[in-house]
Amino acid sequence: MKRSVDLLVVHAGQLLTLQGPSDTPRTGPSLRDVGLVADGAVAAADGVIVAVGPTAQVLDEVMLSPDGVHLDVGGRVVLPGFIDAHTHLIHAGSRIDEFEQRLSGATYQQIAAQGGGILSTMRATRAASEDELLALGRARLDHMLRSGTTTVEAKSGYGLRTEDELKSLRVMHRLGAAHEVDVVTTFLGAHVVPPEFAGDPDRYVGRIVEEMIPAVADEDLAEFCDVFCDEGAFTREQARTVLEAGAEFGLSPKIHADELSDGDGALLAAEVGAVSADHLEYASDEGLQAMAEAGTIAVLLPCTSLFLGLPYARARRMVELGVAVALATDFNPGTSPTYAMPMAVALASISMRLLPSEAIAAATINAAHAIGMAEEVGSLEPGKAADLVVLDATDFREVATAFGTNPVATVVKRGRVVWQTASVKGAT
Ligand code: NIG
Ligand code: FE
Repeated sequence: MKRSVDLLVVHAGQLLTLQGPSDTPRTGPSLRDVGLVADGAVAAADGVIVAVGPTAQVLDEVMLSPDGVHLDVGGRVVLPGFIDAHTHLIHAGSRIDEFEQRLSGATYQQIAAQGGGILSTMRATRAASEDELLALGRARLDHMLRSGTTTVEAKSGYGLRTEDELKSLRVMHRLGAAHEVDVVTTFLGAHVVPPEFAGDPDRYVGRIVEEMIPAVADEDLAEFCDVFCDEGAFTREQARTVLEAGAEFGLSPKIHADELSDGDGALLAAEVGAVSADHLEYASDEGLQAMAEAGTIAVLLPCTSLFLGLPYARARRMVELGVAVALATDFNPGTSPTYAMPMAVALASISMRLLPSEAIAAATINAAHAIGMAEEVGSLEPGKAADLVVLDATDFREVATAFGTNPVATVVKRGRVVWQTASVKGAT
C-alpha cells in the first residue's frame, strides 16, 4: 500500500538532501557532501518528511491525498531551509546615523566608547513594550522567511537588566509560537556592561549569575547562554564565570569570541565545552585546534566582516583543522543589519573561499547542530520537518555567485507553502 502524503515536491533538477550521519556536524571533506539527487522529490505528511529520493522512486512509494499540495518545481534546485544560527533579532531603535559616522572615519569601538553602539540599542529596547518588540520581530522574521530561513536563533542582550532581558526572551517565545519561522532562544545578558554598573563589570557579572540566569531558567526562557568575550566587553574570566553559571542552570554555553581581537576566546570555548564559538575573525590556530578537539562548532558571520570592514574568519584553515563550520547572518542593528542567509552563503564562498557546497552544508545541517536542532531540521530525510526552499536556479552553486539577489522562489515550512514568488506561482 502506498503511503498517503499531503505534500509532494517533484522534479527538482538538483535535490540537496544533506543526508548523512546526523549525530555529529560535518567536518573536513564531508562538509562538501550535499547528498545531491538528480530529478529529486520530497514527500511529507503532517509536516514531517516521509520519503526523499529520485522522483520516480518517491512516486512509487507515496500517494498524494486529494487535498494535498503538489509542487512540480520544473528542474529547479531544492534544499533544506536555511538555519540562521546567530541573530540579535529583538531590539528597537536605529543605528543608521552610526553607520554614517563610521563612513566618516569613526570606528565601531570609538562609537561604543561614547555611549553609542550596543548601549544606544539598549536604551531604545528598554523603552519599548513587549508588543512593540513583537511587531518589530514579526516583520523581521517575514524578511528572513522570504530569504529562505526556516529556523532562527535569537539572542537577548539589549535589555541588560533583569526585567528587560526577560521581556526580550518572552517576545522571542511569543514570536516562535505565532510565526512560521521557529525561534531558538539564547540569553546574552553578558553582551556589554550597562551604565548602572559602569566601571564595575564584576558586580554586573554577579548580577547576571545571581539574579538573571536563575530568573531566565525559572521561566524556561532560553536554551543557551552566550557571552561577548572581547575588548570593550567581558574578559575570559568573567565569561567563564557566566558560562559556568549558565550551565548549572541547564543553559548550554555559546560565546562571541575573537571578533575584534584575539582574546583566546576560542580556547575558552573549548575549555568550557561550548556548543559553538561565534565570529572568530582573529582566532589563533591554537584556539581552533582546541575547538576541533572539543567538538565546538565555529559559527562564522561573514556579513559582519563585510559591514565592519573586519578580516574574514579563516574558514579554510578551520576546515583543514577539522573544526565544524556553520554560518549565520549575525542580524543586528550595529554590525550586520541583514536578514539574508543567501548573502552569508555567498560571502562565505567569495570572501572565505568555502566551496558553495561547503557553505550550504554550513548554513543548513551544521547550523542546525550549532543550535541543538539537528534531530529535527537541517537536512531532508524521513522523520525530519518538511522545511525546504526552492531556488529559482538550476545549479545550486548560483547561491554563491548571485550575491545580493534573493534566489529563493518558494519556502515550505512544516509541509506548508508559506512563501512563493509570482513567477513560480504561475509555473506550477
Ligand atoms: O555580534 N559582537 C557583539 N555583538 C554584536 C554587535 C551588536 C551591536 O553592535 O548591536 C555582534 O557583532
Ligand atoms: Fe552577534
